[in-house]
Amino acid sequence: MSRTVLITGATGTVSTALMDALRGADVALRALVRDESKADGLLERNTEVFIGDLDDPRSLPPAFAGVQDLWLLTPNSPRAPENNMNALWAARRAGVERVVRLSVVGAAHDAPNRSGRLHALSDAETERSGLRWTILRPHWFMQNLLNEAADLAATGTFATNLASARIGMIDVRDIAECAARVLLDDPDRHHGQTYTLTGPRSVALHEVADAMGLALGRPVTYLPVSDDAKRATLLGYGVPAWIVDMLEEYAQAYVTGWGDLTTDTVAGLLGRAPRDIADFARDHAAAFGSRTPLPSV
Ligand SMILES: NC(=O)c1ccc[n+]([C@@H]2O[C@H](COP(=O)([O-])OP(=O)(O)OC[C@H]3O[C@@H](n4cnc5c(N)ncnc54)[C@H](OP(=O)(O)O)[C@@H]3O)[C@@H](O)[C@H]2O)c1
Repeated sequence: MSRTVLITGATGTVSTALMDALRGADVALRALVRDESKADGLLERNTEVFIGDLDDPRSLPPAFAGVQDLWLLTPNSPRAPENNMNALWAARRAGVERVVRLSVVGAAHDAPNRSGRLHALSDAETERSGLRWTILRPHWFMQNLLNEAADLAATGTFATNLASARIGMIDVRDIAECAARVLLDDPDRHHGQTYTLTGPRSVALHEVADAMGLALGRPVTYLPVSDDAKRATLLGYGVPAWIVDMLEEYAQAYVTGWGDLTTDTVAGLLGRAPRDIADFARDHAAAFGSRTPLPSV
């Protein structure tokens, strides 16, 4: 009989890619969503939808009943450890066998950013949950660049406070394929493992601009800006202050070289190299306002 996988964060970037990666696999997909009006796309994906909120433990038991595998993604929020705790408790009570948790690169109690420290709390709890567990710690998502798409399409430039930091950035599609690999393998195979997932090389933002320019067929310029300038822009777009602070902490760590690392873990799990920034740029050229999108390979 197929195993049932409960997907949390089901309307978000990583979990959507995970459901794509699991398409056609011999598993029953179930999604936890907070807002029923966002469930239409999930139903079209042949996914059973349960309404529940990781802030509210009382809302969770129906979604967890009969589940073997939990994909646990917590939002970027100071309440993330509480959300993780609520999900793990519901999983334990329902007899879920395995949890595969999305953490973050460098998660540690002494990480230089609050997101890394919050994830460390949830990682520690997951390791002691009594369930079989695997933790994925992905690096900076290439898909974060989609936040710059409107500026880039309009002006041919994009601005960040990452200076000349080198970052082992990863395409979310590769994170999703690694998560799918773990979920489809025997529950014992990856139990107790923490995988740091990166792209194939550390890339600076001016190299990202070069890759974008090549994919778009026109020049793209990267504009380094100060923390204060980036902060003002993000707050102006209505990004919550907590997120702005967290992003600034990451940027400050990255400019010291904290993110200049790669691993061969994706290749080990998938049997192929991870996608390069050039692949990401080419595959997303339309989103960045390409006049002549190049074909994907
Ligand atoms: N961005 C990066 O570079 C990076 C790198 C490594 C790790 N990460 C980690 O990746 C995670 C974010 O993943 P993502 O970008 O895929 O997320 P996302 O696109 O921001 O989506 C967040 C998801 O969580 C759901 N959610 C929020 N609050 C919830 C609650 N109280 N109960 C149930 N569901 C809730 C949202 O549902 P609604 O549709 O209802 O809002 C949405 O489906 C974070 O843990 C972050 O630390 C990010």
